[in-house]
Amino acid sequence: MRALVRNPDTADLPSGVEVVRGDLSVPDTLNEGLEGVEAVFLVWPALPISFAPAVLGVLKQHAPRIVYLSSMGIREGLAQQADPINDFHANIERLIEQSGLAWTFLRVSGFATNTLGWAQQIRSDGVVRWPYGTAARSLIHEQDIATVAVRVLTSDRHNGAKYVLTGPQALTQVEQVHAISQAIGRPLRYEEISPEIVRQQMLTQMPPAMVDGMLNAWAGFVTEPEPVSRTVEEIMGRPAHTYSEWAIDHASAFRV
Ligand SMILES: NC(=O)c1ccc[n+]([C@@H]2O[C@H](COP(=O)([O-])OP(=O)(O)OC[C@H]3O[C@@H](n4cnc5c(N)ncnc54)[C@H](OP(=O)(O)O)[C@@H]3O)[C@@H](O)[C@H]2O)c1
Repeated sequence: MRALVRNPDTADLPSGVEVVRGDLSVPDTLNEGLEGVEAVFLVWPALPISFAPAVLGVLKQHAPRIVYLSSMGIREGLAQQADPINDFHANIERLIEQSGLAWTFLRVSGFATNTLGWAQQIRSDGVVRWPYGTAARSLIHEQDIATVAVRVLTSDRHNGAKYVLTGPQALTQVEQVHAISQAIGRPLRYEEISPEIVRQQMLTQMPPAMVDGMLNAWAGFVTEPEPVSRTVEEIMGRPAHTYSEWAIDHASAFRV
């Protein structure tokens, strides 16, 4: 297994993974790392989509098959998705479909690792100040994404599949904080704050359309929880990890 990263010195990857340097925004840097590769797991970062055609062109010269980490919010048959995040993923999927590569799309729910964003608040005073406490998400453990990705990468049985991957249940953000509290054995409190406060913080890190897309999605999950799929279980023959299991696995990030 080989991982392509921008900076091998700071890449924190398990032993046994070969690490090579490359940058998706400089497609020529990908050639060396792609030598002898049969299938690629593509994570497209917050990088303009204009780089994608050249990257797919380089991938096609080397690897016949691609597994793309996409988003479960995509609605089929729309020329344009309702929000910019899903539209971005749908546009990358479209380019991959047109590329002539064999492909599989892993359309995932929110990552459980997103909640590591609360770690500093939890460590400092045990209070998570965040909006939309009753927004319910089917957050997925990164191990489930990885194990499904390995299964799909190592067989051509999954070519052309669009798999929706989620955690096994939808939990509200208040329930997620409770699961972290149980995992670290310390009482924690969720304090609901105005979305506008968080919006201002997020605007320092991402473009307005992206921030508003995320806040609108959370608002939507208050009335309509993020759906739950059984695809991880169908592919792996065992249930997806729960958010509580994820919290136990990451307890050290939330402990003082
Ligand atoms: N987070 C979610 O809930 C979610 C849900 C559905 C789908 N996704 C998909 O998953 C992707 C990753 O999400 P994430 O939350 O893990 O994002 P992230 O934390 O921003 O990770 C992006 C990764 O891409 C690498 N990267 C950035 N620019 C690069 C470049 N020019 N060339 C090569 N590598 C580059 C970064 O590595 P370094 O900075 O260390 O170089 C980092 O490892 C998203 O872009 C999205 O498509 C995410």
